[in-house]
Amino acid sequence: MDLDFTYPEVEDLRRRARRKMPLFAFDYLDSGTGRELGVVRNRTALDAVRFLPASLKGKMDAELEITFMGQTYSMPIGVAPIGMSGMIWPGAEQYLAKNAAEKRLPYCLSTVATKLPELIGPLAGDMGWFQLYTPAEPEVRRDILRRARAAGFTKLVLTVDVPAESRRERQRRAHVAAPPRITPKVAWEIMTHPEWALKTLRMGRPGIVLTDDYLSPRQKARDRFMNAGRVIRGFPDWTCLAALRDEWKGDLLVKGVMDPDDAKRMVEAGVDGIWVSNHGARQFDAAPASITQLPKIRAVLGPDVPIVFDSGVRCGLDVMRAIALGADLVMMGRAWHYAVGALDHAGPAWLCHIMEADLRSAMAQIGAVKLSEITARLVAGDGGGVVPTPRLERGTS
Ligand code: FNR
Ligand code: LAC
Repeated sequence: MDLDFTYPEVEDLRRRARRKMPLFAFDYLDSGTGRELGVVRNRTALDAVRFLPASLKGKMDAELEITFMGQTYSMPIGVAPIGMSGMIWPGAEQYLAKNAAEKRLPYCLSTVATKLPELIGPLAGDMGWFQLYTPAEPEVRRDILRRARAAGFTKLVLTVDVPAESRRERQRRAHVAAPPRITPKVAWEIMTHPEWALKTLRMGRPGIVLTDDYLSPRQKARDRFMNAGRVIRGFPDWTCLAALRDEWKGDLLVKGVMDPDDAKRMVEAGVDGIWVSNHGARQFDAAPASITQLPKIRAVLGPDVPIVFDSGVRCGLDVMRAIALGADLVMMGRAWHYAVGALDHAGPAWLCHIMEADLRSAMAQIGAVKLSEITARLVAGDGGGVVPTPRLERGTS
Protein backbone atom coordinates (compact mmCIF):
# COMPACT_ATOMS: atom_id res chain seq x y z
CA MET A 1 0.00 0.00 0.00
CA ASP A 2 1.39 3.38 -0.93
CA LEU A 3 0.76 5.55 2.12
CA ASP A 4 1.06 8.72 0.08
CA PHE A 5 -2.11 7.78 -1.80
CA THR A 6 -4.08 6.70 1.27
CA TYR A 7 -2.88 9.10 3.97
CA PRO A 8 -1.41 12.18 2.32
CA GLU A 9 -2.58 14.46 5.20
CA VAL A 10 -3.46 14.44 8.89
CA GLU A 11 -7.21 14.47 8.17
CA ASP A 12 -6.83 11.08 6.41
CA LEU A 13 -5.12 9.68 9.51
CA ARG A 14 -7.85 11.14 11.70
CA ARG A 15 -10.59 9.50 9.65
CA ARG A 16 -8.87 6.12 9.85
CA ALA A 17 -8.16 6.50 13.58
CA ARG A 18 -11.81 7.25 14.24
CA ARG A 19 -12.78 3.89 12.74
CA LYS A 20 -10.11 1.98 14.66
CA MET A 21 -10.56 3.51 18.12
CA PRO A 22 -13.42 2.92 20.54
CA LEU A 23 -15.55 6.06 20.67
CA PHE A 24 -14.48 6.92 24.25
CA ALA A 25 -10.83 6.96 23.14
CA PHE A 26 -11.48 8.93 19.96
CA ASP A 27 -13.76 11.50 21.60
CA TYR A 28 -11.28 11.99 24.44
CA LEU A 29 -8.57 12.70 21.86
CA ASP A 30 -10.58 14.74 19.40
CA SER A 31 -12.87 16.90 21.51
CA GLY A 32 -12.69 20.50 22.60
CA THR A 33 -15.01 21.90 25.24
CA GLY A 34 -18.43 23.58 25.27
CA ARG A 35 -19.66 24.19 21.75
CA GLU A 36 -16.15 23.33 20.50
CA LEU A 37 -15.92 26.63 18.65
CA GLY A 38 -12.41 27.20 19.99
CA VAL A 39 -11.21 24.26 17.93
CA VAL A 40 -12.66 25.89 14.82
CA ARG A 41 -11.24 29.29 15.85
CA ASN A 42 -7.70 27.87 16.14
CA ARG A 43 -8.04 26.49 12.61
CA THR A 44 -9.62 29.59 11.07
CA ALA A 45 -6.91 31.85 12.50
CA LEU A 46 -4.11 29.58 11.26
CA ASP A 47 -5.70 29.43 7.81
CA ALA A 48 -5.81 33.23 7.71
CA VAL A 49 -2.01 33.56 7.90
CA ARG A 50 -0.79 34.02 4.32
CA PHE A 51 2.52 34.46 2.54
CA LEU A 52 3.67 36.07 -0.67
CA PRO A 53 5.02 33.47 -3.12
CA ALA A 54 8.48 34.08 -4.59
CA SER A 55 9.75 33.16 -8.04
CA LEU A 56 12.99 32.51 -9.96
CA LYS A 57 14.85 31.27 -6.91
CA GLY A 58 16.43 28.20 -8.52
CA LYS A 59 16.64 24.92 -6.64
CA MET A 60 15.97 25.30 -2.95
CA ASP A 61 16.87 22.94 -0.16
CA ALA A 62 15.35 24.10 3.11
CA GLU A 63 17.53 23.96 6.24
CA LEU A 64 15.23 22.65 8.95
CA GLU A 65 17.64 21.82 11.76
CA ILE A 66 17.34 24.06 14.81
CA THR A 67 19.20 24.62 18.03
CA PHE A 68 16.70 25.19 20.81
CA MET A 69 17.70 25.71 24.45
CA GLY A 70 21.06 24.09 23.88
CA GLN A 71 19.75 21.06 21.99
CA THR A 72 19.78 20.27 18.29
CA TYR A 73 16.56 19.04 16.70
CA SER A 74 16.25 17.83 13.09
CA MET A 75 13.20 20.03 12.45
CA PRO A 76 11.17 22.56 14.46
CA ILE A 77 8.42 20.02 15.26
CA GLY A 78 7.73 18.01 18.43
CA VAL A 79 5.27 15.99 20.49
CA ALA A 80 3.08 17.87 23.01
CA PRO A 81 2.17 16.12 26.29
CA ILE A 82 -1.00 14.02 26.08
CA GLY A 83 -2.60 12.55 29.17
CA MET A 84 -3.63 8.89 28.95
CA SER A 85 -1.88 8.62 25.61
CA GLY A 86 -1.72 4.80 25.95
CA MET A 87 -5.48 4.60 26.52
CA ILE A 88 -6.10 6.46 23.26
CA TRP A 89 -3.95 3.87 21.48
CA PRO A 90 -2.05 1.08 23.28
CA GLY A 91 1.71 1.64 23.00
CA ALA A 92 1.40 5.30 21.96
CA GLU A 93 3.86 6.62 24.56
CA GLN A 94 6.52 4.06 23.65
CA TYR A 95 6.09 4.55 19.88
CA LEU A 96 6.23 8.32 20.09
CA ALA A 97 9.21 8.43 22.46
CA LYS A 98 11.21 5.98 20.32
CA ASN A 99 10.38 7.84 17.13
CA ALA A 100 11.44 11.14 18.74
CA ALA A 101 14.82 9.66 19.70
CA GLU A 102 15.31 8.24 16.18
CA LYS A 103 14.23 11.38 14.35
CA ARG A 104 15.79 13.79 16.90
CA LEU A 105 12.61 15.62 17.80
CA PRO A 106 11.43 16.63 21.28
CA TYR A 107 8.92 14.37 23.07
CA CYS A 108 7.09 15.70 26.12
CA LEU A 109 5.70 13.12 28.56
CA SER A 110 2.55 14.10 30.50
CA THR A 111 2.21 13.81 34.29
CA VAL A 112 -0.96 11.82 33.60
CA ALA A 113 0.47 9.44 30.99
CA THR A 114 -0.23 5.70 31.18
CA LYS A 115 3.49 4.88 31.45
CA LEU A 116 6.06 5.90 34.08
CA PRO A 117 8.91 8.35 33.42
CA GLU A 118 11.34 5.53 34.31
CA LEU A 119 10.12 3.54 31.27
CA ILE A 120 9.71 6.38 28.76
CA GLY A 121 12.78 8.48 29.68
CA PRO A 122 15.33 5.95 28.37
CA LEU A 123 13.30 5.45 25.15
CA ALA A 124 13.29 9.18 24.44
CA GLY A 125 17.04 9.45 25.13
CA ASP A 126 18.12 13.09 25.23
CA MET A 127 14.90 14.16 23.46
CA GLY A 128 12.69 13.83 26.55
CA TRP A 129 10.85 16.71 28.20
CA PHE A 130 8.60 16.24 31.25
CA GLN A 131 5.28 18.05 31.73
CA LEU A 132 4.13 18.79 35.27
CA TYR A 133 0.66 19.19 36.72
CA THR A 134 1.49 20.49 40.18
CA PRO A 135 0.91 18.10 43.05
CA ALA A 136 -0.81 19.52 46.11
CA GLU A 137 2.02 18.25 48.36
CA PRO A 138 5.42 19.92 47.88
CA GLU A 139 7.07 16.64 48.92
CA VAL A 140 5.32 14.79 46.12
CA ARG A 141 6.29 17.55 43.68
CA ARG A 142 9.94 17.25 44.65
CA ASP A 143 9.85 13.49 44.34
CA ILE A 144 8.33 13.66 40.84
CA LEU A 145 11.00 16.18 39.79
CA ARG A 146 13.69 13.89 41.16
CA ARG A 147 12.28 10.92 39.26
CA ALA A 148 11.94 12.89 36.01
CA ARG A 149 15.55 14.06 36.27
CA ALA A 150 16.81 10.57 37.09
CA ALA A 151 14.90 9.16 34.10
CA GLY A 152 16.78 11.51 31.76
CA PHE A 153 14.24 14.27 31.10
CA THR A 154 16.16 17.47 30.40
CA LYS A 155 13.41 20.09 30.31
CA LEU A 156 10.53 20.68 32.68
CA VAL A 157 7.22 22.08 31.41
CA LEU A 158 4.76 23.53 33.92
CA THR A 159 1.22 23.59 32.52
CA VAL A 160 -0.79 26.57 33.76
CA ASP A 161 -3.95 26.57 31.65
CA VAL A 162 -5.93 24.09 33.74
CA PRO A 163 -7.01 26.28 36.71
CA ALA A 164 -10.16 24.17 36.90
CA GLU A 165 -11.57 21.15 35.13
CA SER A 166 -13.36 21.99 31.89
CA ARG A 167 -16.70 20.41 30.96
CA ARG A 168 -15.70 18.62 27.74
CA GLU A 169 -19.28 17.52 27.17
CA ARG A 170 -18.51 15.24 24.20
CA GLN A 171 -15.96 13.40 26.30
CA ARG A 172 -18.46 12.94 29.13
CA ARG A 173 -21.09 11.54 26.79
CA ALA A 174 -18.55 8.98 25.56
CA HIS A 175 -17.81 7.81 29.18
CA VAL A 176 -14.09 8.56 29.20
CA ALA A 177 -12.18 7.00 32.12
CA ALA A 178 -8.81 5.31 32.68
CA PRO A 179 -8.99 2.39 32.90
CA PRO A 180 -12.30 2.37 31.02
CA ARG A 181 -15.33 1.95 33.29
CA ILE A 182 -17.26 -0.91 31.76
CA THR A 183 -20.75 0.36 31.02
CA PRO A 184 -22.76 -1.44 28.31
CA LYS A 185 -21.89 1.36 25.89
CA VAL A 186 -18.16 1.07 26.67
CA ALA A 187 -18.23 -2.75 26.45
CA TRP A 188 -19.85 -2.48 23.02
CA GLU A 189 -17.18 -0.03 21.85
CA ILE A 190 -14.38 -2.35 23.04
CA MET A 191 -15.95 -5.42 21.41
CA THR A 192 -16.40 -3.67 18.09
CA HIS A 193 -12.76 -2.43 18.00
CA PRO A 194 -10.81 -5.68 18.30
CA GLU A 195 -7.37 -4.37 17.33
CA TRP A 196 -7.48 -1.78 20.12
CA ALA A 197 -8.92 -4.36 22.53
CA LEU A 198 -6.37 -7.12 21.85
CA LYS A 199 -3.42 -4.74 21.94
CA THR A 200 -4.72 -3.29 25.19
CA LEU A 201 -4.97 -6.78 26.67
CA ARG A 202 -1.38 -7.45 25.64
CA MET A 203 -0.03 -4.14 26.91
CA GLY A 204 -1.95 -4.07 30.18
CA ARG A 205 -4.81 -1.94 31.45
CA PRO A 206 -4.04 1.73 30.81
CA GLY A 207 -4.07 3.67 34.08
CA ILE A 208 -2.66 6.98 35.30
CA VAL A 209 0.34 5.33 36.87
CA LEU A 210 2.62 8.08 38.17
CA THR A 211 0.12 9.76 40.48
CA ASP A 212 -1.05 6.34 41.71
CA ASP A 213 2.38 5.88 43.31
CA TYR A 214 1.53 8.59 45.85
CA LEU A 215 -1.69 7.11 47.16
CA SER A 216 -1.99 4.54 49.91
CA PRO A 217 -3.84 1.34 48.89
CA ARG A 218 -6.73 2.53 51.03
CA GLN A 219 -6.93 5.86 49.16
CA LYS A 220 -7.03 4.24 45.75
CA ALA A 221 -10.51 4.38 44.33
CA ARG A 222 -11.48 2.54 41.17
CA ASP A 223 -11.58 5.81 39.26
CA ARG A 224 -7.97 6.69 38.39
CA PHE A 225 -9.09 10.10 37.08
CA MET A 226 -10.23 10.96 40.61
CA ASN A 227 -7.05 9.50 42.08
CA ALA A 228 -4.88 11.60 39.79
CA GLY A 229 -6.95 14.64 40.67
CA ARG A 230 -6.28 14.06 44.36
CA VAL A 231 -2.51 14.05 43.85
CA ILE A 232 -2.16 16.90 41.37
CA ARG A 233 -4.63 19.32 42.92
CA GLY A 234 -1.87 21.88 43.24
CA PHE A 235 -3.50 24.93 41.64
CA PRO A 236 -0.20 26.59 40.70
CA ASP A 237 0.35 30.28 41.47
CA TRP A 238 3.36 32.60 41.29
CA THR A 239 4.70 31.28 44.60
CA CYS A 240 4.57 27.74 43.27
CA LEU A 241 6.37 28.88 40.12
CA ALA A 242 9.14 30.44 42.23
CA ALA A 243 9.50 27.20 44.23
CA LEU A 244 9.72 25.17 41.02
CA ARG A 245 12.32 27.52 39.60
CA ASP A 246 14.31 26.92 42.73
CA GLU A 247 13.94 23.14 42.68
CA TRP A 248 14.52 22.43 38.99
CA LYS A 249 18.04 23.27 37.86
CA GLY A 250 17.49 22.47 34.16
CA ASP A 251 15.47 24.40 31.59
CA LEU A 252 12.00 25.40 32.76
CA LEU A 253 9.16 26.22 30.37
CA VAL A 254 5.63 27.35 31.16
CA LYS A 255 2.89 25.92 28.92
CA GLY A 256 -0.51 27.43 28.25
CA VAL A 257 0.54 31.08 28.11
CA MET A 258 -1.85 33.39 26.22
CA ASP A 259 -1.36 36.77 27.94
CA PRO A 260 1.73 38.80 26.91
CA ASP A 261 1.94 40.41 30.38
CA ASP A 262 2.00 36.97 32.04
CA ALA A 263 4.72 35.85 29.62
CA LYS A 264 6.87 38.85 30.53
CA ARG A 265 6.41 38.31 34.25
CA MET A 266 7.27 34.61 33.91
CA VAL A 267 10.55 35.41 32.19
CA GLU A 268 11.29 37.93 34.95
CA ALA A 269 10.61 35.12 37.45
CA GLY A 270 13.38 33.06 35.87
CA VAL A 271 11.44 30.91 33.39
CA ASP A 272 13.63 29.91 30.43
CA GLY A 273 10.98 29.41 27.75
CA ILE A 274 7.33 30.25 27.03
CA TRP A 275 4.91 27.75 25.46
CA VAL A 276 2.07 29.64 23.77
CA SER A 277 -0.98 27.38 23.74
CA ASN A 278 -4.70 27.26 24.47
CA HIS A 279 -4.51 23.52 25.19
CA GLY A 280 -5.93 22.70 21.78
CA ALA A 281 -9.11 24.59 22.82
CA ARG A 282 -9.96 21.95 25.43
CA GLN A 283 -10.14 24.28 28.40
CA PHE A 284 -11.98 27.50 27.48
CA ASP A 285 -14.20 27.83 24.45
CA ALA A 286 -14.05 31.65 24.49
CA ALA A 287 -10.25 31.95 24.34
CA PRO A 288 -8.69 33.56 21.28
CA ALA A 289 -6.83 31.33 18.84
CA SER A 290 -3.35 30.75 20.19
CA ILE A 291 -1.82 31.83 16.85
CA THR A 292 -3.31 35.33 17.36
CA GLN A 293 -1.53 35.66 20.71
CA LEU A 294 1.82 34.38 19.44
CA PRO A 295 3.08 37.56 17.68
CA LYS A 296 1.95 39.68 20.64
CA ILE A 297 3.93 37.50 23.01
CA ARG A 298 6.98 37.52 20.73
CA ALA A 299 6.72 41.32 20.58
CA VAL A 300 6.87 41.75 24.38
CA LEU A 301 9.55 39.11 24.92
CA GLY A 302 11.89 40.29 22.16
CA PRO A 303 13.88 38.03 19.86
CA ASP A 304 15.85 35.97 22.37
CA VAL A 305 13.38 34.20 24.65
CA PRO A 306 12.66 30.66 23.37
CA ILE A 307 9.01 30.28 22.36
CA VAL A 308 7.14 27.03 21.71
CA PHE A 309 3.75 27.06 19.99
CA ASP A 310 0.83 24.65 19.72
CA SER A 311 -2.97 24.33 19.22
CA GLY A 312 -4.48 23.37 15.91
CA VAL A 313 -1.32 22.52 13.94
CA ARG A 314 -2.11 19.95 11.24
CA CYS A 315 0.44 20.42 8.41
CA GLY A 316 3.88 21.71 7.53
CA LEU A 317 2.39 24.96 6.32
CA ASP A 318 1.01 25.55 9.84
CA VAL A 319 4.53 25.09 11.21
CA MET A 320 5.72 27.76 8.77
CA ARG A 321 2.88 30.04 9.92
CA ALA A 322 3.82 29.71 13.58
CA ILE A 323 7.51 30.27 12.89
CA ALA A 324 6.66 33.36 10.83
CA LEU A 325 4.75 34.80 13.78
CA GLY A 326 7.51 34.23 16.33
CA ALA A 327 7.73 30.56 17.38
CA ASP A 328 11.03 28.69 17.52
CA LEU A 329 9.49 25.24 17.87
CA VAL A 330 6.01 23.95 17.00
CA MET A 331 4.31 21.09 18.84
CA MET A 332 1.36 18.88 17.99
CA GLY A 333 -0.82 16.81 20.29
CA ARG A 334 -3.76 15.24 18.50
CA ALA A 335 -2.07 14.73 15.11
CA TRP A 336 0.48 12.25 16.54
CA HIS A 337 -2.33 10.25 18.08
CA TYR A 338 -4.38 10.19 14.89
CA ALA A 339 -1.21 8.80 13.30
CA VAL A 340 -0.67 5.99 15.84
CA GLY A 341 -4.38 5.19 15.82
CA ALA A 342 -4.37 4.86 12.04
CA LEU A 343 -1.01 3.15 11.51
CA ASP A 344 0.04 1.78 14.91
CA HIS A 345 3.86 1.71 15.31
CA ALA A 346 4.36 3.06 11.77
CA GLY A 347 2.29 6.18 12.49
CA PRO A 348 4.88 8.54 14.00
CA ALA A 349 7.41 8.12 11.18
CA TRP A 350 4.69 8.62 8.58
CA LEU A 351 3.51 11.83 10.23
CA CYS A 352 7.13 13.07 10.35
CA HIS A 353 7.35 12.40 6.63
CA ILE A 354 4.21 14.30 5.65
CA MET A 355 5.00 17.22 7.97
CA GLU A 356 8.54 17.57 6.64
CA ALA A 357 7.49 17.25 2.99
CA ASP A 358 4.79 19.90 3.42
CA LEU A 359 7.08 22.29 5.32
CA ARG A 360 9.78 21.97 2.62
CA SER A 361 7.23 22.54 -0.12
CA ALA A 362 5.75 25.60 1.63
CA MET A 363 9.18 27.14 2.21
CA ALA A 364 10.11 26.66 -1.44
CA GLN A 365 6.92 28.47 -2.52
CA ILE A 366 8.02 31.60 -0.65
CA GLY A 367 11.68 31.27 -1.59
CA ALA A 368 12.88 30.56 1.96
CA VAL A 369 15.85 28.28 2.60
CA LYS A 370 16.36 29.25 6.22
CA LEU A 371 13.65 29.36 8.86
CA SER A 372 14.80 32.91 9.65
CA GLU A 373 13.70 34.03 6.16
CA ILE A 374 10.05 33.09 6.58
CA THR A 375 8.75 36.14 8.46
CA ALA A 376 9.71 38.50 5.64
CA ARG A 377 7.25 36.79 3.27
CA LEU A 378 4.27 37.21 5.58
CA VAL A 379 1.41 39.12 3.97
CA ALA A 380 1.04 42.23 6.14
CA GLY A 381 -2.03 42.55 8.31
CA ASP A 382 -2.41 38.84 8.97
CA GLY A 383 -1.88 37.19 12.32
CA GLY A 384 -4.24 39.50 14.17
CA GLY A 385 -2.77 42.65 12.66
CA VAL A 386 0.30 42.61 14.89
CA VAL A 387 3.64 42.79 13.13
CA PRO A 388 6.06 40.44 14.90
CA THR A 389 9.51 41.45 16.01
CA PRO A 390 11.85 40.53 13.18
CA ARG A 391 14.60 38.25 14.36
CA LEU A 392 18.06 38.25 12.84
CA GLU A 393 19.02 34.80 13.95
CA ARG A 394 16.62 32.12 15.02
CA GLY A 395 19.31 29.77 16.26
CA THR A 396 19.33 27.77 13.03
CA SER A 397 22.68 26.19 12.41
C1 FNR B 1 -3.82 17.37 25.90
N1 FNR B 1 -3.01 18.39 26.36
C2 FNR B 1 -2.29 18.24 27.53
N2 FNR B 1 -1.44 19.21 27.96
C3 FNR B 1 -0.70 19.05 29.08
O1 FNR B 1 0.08 19.94 29.42
N3 FNR B 1 -0.81 17.89 29.79
C4 FNR B 1 -1.63 16.88 29.44
O2 FNR B 1 -1.70 15.86 30.11
C5 FNR B 1 -2.44 17.06 28.29
N4 FNR B 1 -3.32 16.10 27.90
C6 FNR B 1 -3.96 16.19 26.69
C7 FNR B 1 -4.76 15.14 26.24
C8 FNR B 1 -5.35 15.22 24.98
C9 FNR B 1 -6.17 14.07 24.48
C10 FNR B 1 -5.19 16.37 24.18
C11 FNR B 1 -5.79 16.47 22.79
C12 FNR B 1 -4.44 17.42 24.65
C13 FNR B 1 -2.77 19.57 25.52
C14 FNR B 1 -1.64 19.29 24.51
O3 FNR B 1 -0.41 19.20 25.16
C15 FNR B 1 -1.52 20.38 23.43
O4 FNR B 1 -1.46 21.64 24.04
C16 FNR B 1 -2.68 20.35 22.43
O5 FNR B 1 -2.98 19.02 22.10
C17 FNR B 1 -2.32 21.12 21.18
O6 FNR B 1 -3.36 21.13 20.26
P1 FNR B 1 -3.47 20.07 19.05
O7 FNR B 1 -2.10 19.91 18.43
O8 FNR B 1 -3.98 18.82 19.64
O9 FNR B 1 -4.47 20.73 18.16
C1 LAC C 1 -6.44 16.93 28.81
C2 LAC C 1 -5.77 17.02 30.15
C3 LAC C 1 -5.26 15.72 30.63
O1 LAC C 1 -6.32 17.86 28.01
O2 LAC C 1 -4.76 17.96 30.11
O3 LAC C 1 -7.14 15.94 28.58
